[in-house]
Amino acid sequence: MRLMRAVWQGVSTVRDGFERQITYLRVSLTERCNLKCFYCRPAEGQSSVGDGLPLDDLIRVIRAGARIGLRKVRLTGGEPLMRSDVVELVGALAEIPEIDDIALTTNGCLLSSRAAALKAAGLKRVNISLDTLRADRFREITGSGDWSRAWAGVEAALALDLHPVKLNMVVMRGVNDDEVLAFARLAEDLPLHVRFIEIMPIGPSSAWALDRLVPAEQIRQIIINRYGTLQPVKPGDGSGPARCWTVPGFAGSVGFIAPLSGYFCASCNRIRLTAAGTLRPCLCNGEEIDLAGALARGADDDEIIRILVKAVARKPQGHPEHTIIPVQDRLMSQIGG
Ligand code: GTP
Ligand code: 5AD
Repeated sequence: MRLMRAVWQGVSTVRDGFERQITYLRVSLTERCNLKCFYCRPAEGQSSVGDGLPLDDLIRVIRAGARIGLRKVRLTGGEPLMRSDVVELVGALAEIPEIDDIALTTNGCLLSSRAAALKAAGLKRVNISLDTLRADRFREITGSGDWSRAWAGVEAALALDLHPVKLNMVVMRGVNDDEVLAFARLAEDLPLHVRFIEIMPIGPSSAWALDRLVPAEQIRQIIINRYGTLQPVKPGDGSGPARCWTVPGFAGSVGFIAPLSGYFCASCNRIRLTAAGTLRPCLCNGEEIDLAGALARGADDDEIIRILVKAVARKPQGHPEHTIIPVQDRLMSQIGG
């Protein structure tokens, strides 16, 4: 009830049933991806909705979200840059006064050619997924990807000051865990915020993630052994699940996203719009609330708000501490990370 009152009174904040203020909407623009990472890709023949909601619907939903306090928007996928209207979308979002952060999560491969237009349209910053610094390994992990294109994306983001530029490395034992120090060195040399992510049992990785898991504290120790004590970086306003550290002399920082070993559901601040047009209150819980159907039936803005508020209210307390019940209903690329 309190949630609804907040809307009726025009109060621009929304809380879930566990007193968490929800300020962040993650939007999956498409299920399509130009990479086929083995831990994320759909199975052969698996059906896909392709692109998410059309541009006008996305703008309406995000504008409605801004009215209830979803001030931070992240465009994800799939690979969001596979959509040709992403620059137009960013431009429209930049005109919504309540929105104070527009960010993109991308694999970087299409970024170098589009970064300038995205920045000019109003994109503030990017998070780039990159699991290896070796071209041969990149091809193995991604199916056929060209590492130099992904790296060109990182360079473009740095050159255009899309700061903070964050690099997401999903660490997997026996796959890329020998590159932890190479990634840390990037943060030493460049103003990059490298985040080491614990692999979660979602989609194809639901069967084996726990066997490949490298707990964040183990990764941190590898870095401490090389660089000595790490200094904590104070989390910024509305900052995500990463816990970040720096070393004197580093141009950037290192961070750890530890959904398994370092439970962070208590500070969750987000809901997700999937490419299928559903709202997903929690990454790790299969409940979703239909929005696309309501839009197709001509829902007005008040109804969109009611559906968004309902999704916030349906947020569960979290996944169990130190474990995630394997998520098999969707792939990460369908949920949007
Ligand atoms: P900022 O802090 O805004 O820069 O972004 P972020 O770290 O939230 O976004 P990004 O898209 O870079 O996500 C990084 C990774 O964090 C995701 O791929 C997930 O692995 C993890 N993650 C993000 N949100 C959640 C969440 O709500 N629950 C869990 N378990 N993991 C999450
Ligand atoms: N566990 C953890 N992170 C994952 N990502 C994709 N699949 C998984 C998984 N199973 C990451 C991507 C990207 C972010 C949006 O999600 O590497 O950085």
